[in-house]
Amino acid sequence: MNALKQTANRLFSISQNNYLNPHTALVWPETLERSQWFMAPELISLNGSPVYEELSEKQKKELSFWEAVNFFSLNIHGEKALVEGLAQRLYRRELADVAEYLHSFLDEENKHMVYFGGFCQRYAGKIYRDRKLKIEREYAYGEEEFLFFAKTMIFEELADYYNLRMGNNSEIELTARRINLIHHLEEARHLAFGREIVRYLFNKFAAHWTGEVLQNVRHYLLSYLEATWKEYYNPDVYRDAGLDEVFDLVDQAWHSSASKKHRQQASFRCVDFFVKEGILEKNLVV
Ligand SMILES: [Fe+2]
Ligand SMILES: [Fe+2]
Repeated sequence: MNALKQTANRLFSISQNNYLNPHTALVWPETLERSQWFMAPELISLNGSPVYEELSEKQKKELSFWEAVNFFSLNIHGEKALVEGLAQRLYRRELADVAEYLHSFLDEENKHMVYFGGFCQRYAGKIYRDRKLKIEREYAYGEEEFLFFAKTMIFEELADYYNLRMGNNSEIELTARRINLIHHLEEARHLAFGREIVRYLFNKFAAHWTGEVLQNVRHYLLSYLEATWKEYYNPDVYRDAGLDEVFDLVDQAWHSSASKKHRQQASFRCVDFFVKEGILEKNLVV
């Protein structure tokens, strides 16, 4: 708990010193000129599949707008679940030492939804629906606790890969770029905390698990990683961008070698951490 507590204390003071008002941190233009990139071209889900090459630059930019709306929507759904889970864990005896930091974590995730939701509602008039299925099941001792933070880490690591590549990218429309930048700056703290708490909970609980429970945990994490990735390939995005045969496009995009390589690269930091900590057995292909 010591390393975790020290990290939490350090992050808490950084959060206090960098406290942002979400209602003034961004300037919202009345409308956005669509002839700009809202998602970096190399991060567009269709990039690398044959159909993408046939699109005009105007169509690619229109697609980039809806891809950004999807990326921001994914963040909102992940953050809603995160806020819910963090609120449940506030002042639990085993996490009492890091309660102060949990308040900052929770506060920052709520602010992120102001940015992401503000963009989607203002400029797209909607947020894409959450496609994740929730399955109720029984958990072994400490398993649910561990999985909550491990899943958070997966979701945040992937999103940060995108934020990092767009937050300072002058090619990206300014509002979308600022959202990526602000998010990355605060997520850097969440990721640091995530590593400590995932390590702490795994060391605390895994010793009590049977081999079968550990295998289930591993299988679950890999399934969660795949399910998280699947949400980046959204047929509604392709439809809104004016493309046809959208389910076929999802298939093409998912299976293209370029996108497999992209998923491996973007998952690397997170999967590598899990492997080094003994949480996953080897660096498996997503
Ligand atoms: Fe966030
Ligand atoms: Fe976060």
